[in-house]
Amino acid sequence: MSERTTWNNNYIFLMAMIGSAVGLGNIWRFPYIYYTNGHGTFLIPYIIAILVLGLPFIFLESSLGLKFKESLINTFQKVGDKLQIIGWLIIITVFLITTYYICIVGWDLIYFFLSFTKAWGANPATYFTTNVVQSSNVLHFVPLVGISILVIWILIWFICHKDLNDGVGKAVNILVPLMFVIMIGIVIYSLTMPGASIGIKEFFTIDWNALGNLNIWLAAFGQIIFSLSLGMGIILTYSSYLPEKTNLTKNAVMTIFANCGFEVVNAIGVFSILGFMVLTSGIPFNQLIIEGTGLAFIAFPEVFNVMGPVSYILGPIFFLCILIAGITSLISMLELISSSIGDKFKLSRKKVTTILCIIGFLVSMIYATSFGSYLLGIVDSMLNNVILLLIIIIECIIFGYIYSMDKLMEILNENTLFKVGNWWKYCIKYITPIILIILWISGVLSFIFTAPTKELIIRGALILILIIGPILAYLITKKLDIKKSKSNNLN
Ligand code: PFF
Repeated sequence: MSERTTWNNNYIFLMAMIGSAVGLGNIWRFPYIYYTNGHGTFLIPYIIAILVLGLPFIFLESSLGLKFKESLINTFQKVGDKLQIIGWLIIITVFLITTYYICIVGWDLIYFFLSFTKAWGANPATYFTTNVVQSSNVLHFVPLVGISILVIWILIWFICHKDLNDGVGKAVNILVPLMFVIMIGIVIYSLTMPGASIGIKEFFTIDWNALGNLNIWLAAFGQIIFSLSLGMGIILTYSSYLPEKTNLTKNAVMTIFANCGFEVVNAIGVFSILGFMVLTSGIPFNQLIIEGTGLAFIAFPEVFNVMGPVSYILGPIFFLCILIAGITSLISMLELISSSIGDKFKLSRKKVTTILCIIGFLVSMIYATSFGSYLLGIVDSMLNNVILLLIIIIECIIFGYIYSMDKLMEILNENTLFKVGNWWKYCIKYITPIILIILWISGVLSFIFTAPTKELIIRGALILILIIGPILAYLITKKLDIKKSKSNNLN
């Protein structure tokens, strides 16, 4: 067996981990979730979610990576042959996430160019729906979005087809620090804007009664899962390239610190900028703070419209920051998929990356249509609120009950002064799954009762893909394994 590649040094590994974690979720999801779930009070369930879910899960995935030094599918196979099906479920889920996530990054690339002239005009909301995504009841292709997605795919291919350190390593080494510098620059500037104090006041408002509301706890756990890219095997894959003597616990703490620090500080900047908007336009804060595409592609262009000449610098820098955050997350998703498929089908890195990028590009063209943004919303909520949660629950059961966590605890405690104790096992075995099961049931129920029938059909189709896909992939690779062992025996 050939030696597995290792990261050039621990710093590069950390940059890759932070690059994967810091993404669109940090920039546009966190401020809204924070605001709608008790403002300052949200920090309490958020910190608890880090301690009982974020930290234990990163420990789990990174120790698995270092123990087996294999891609995700091979790791699952070593734990139990049939468990590969779960591995394939994760791979297909992350592939589907990649294909729509890249579309949002594509929209951002368009806005990066628009921001130099504020080409979105006086009404950014209309511009977004009619000129950029071109939503309509009649199906048609949207060339601008298609080209933009293609450009991002080419960029991702360019980074990922090279050897680990030459491609991913070099990219994250430059991009991740740059992203932090930009974000800190924007936040410092935003704090000096008139009206910033209105936003800051909103940010630090405390409502103790909110702590009794189950929803804010669920929101905190949901945010930590998405933001830290938990359960998707990315941390496992990146950790499989680590040298034997690595301090895993320190790396986990630093990743969490950087990721969560980024989203909290970034939110302070977003709140300050929206405070400025409240002051200049008189629109109340609660109407300005919106989620996702609304915040980045509608609310922010509106702010830039009233900002004066500095917006011609701040605008492009803001969209560049989202672009970098998106690209470094996309790289990690592709690395997970290509390492598993490359290992299983014995394909070179270059070949597997090229094939995956072509297939990924073709699938993501669904989002370059007039139905794209509607479809994206449904697929995103389905995968994040239902499928990912289910995957993490299953992982807790596999690694908490089927596989012995003691073996992993040894690895975690090997090169560190901070020893992991039994509390870690309790989190993975009991606390995390129980909380996630509650979260999952409430998510599924709300889908069943609130989604229109048309959406249910799309959700049903997705579920079908996620059931048939993994089983089929398992059967195909099983056949390949049998063939290989037969030809080995003959030789
Ligand atoms: N953590 C990334 C974010 O906050 O945007 C999102 C993400 C990365 C999701 C990697 C899924 C994934 F596989």
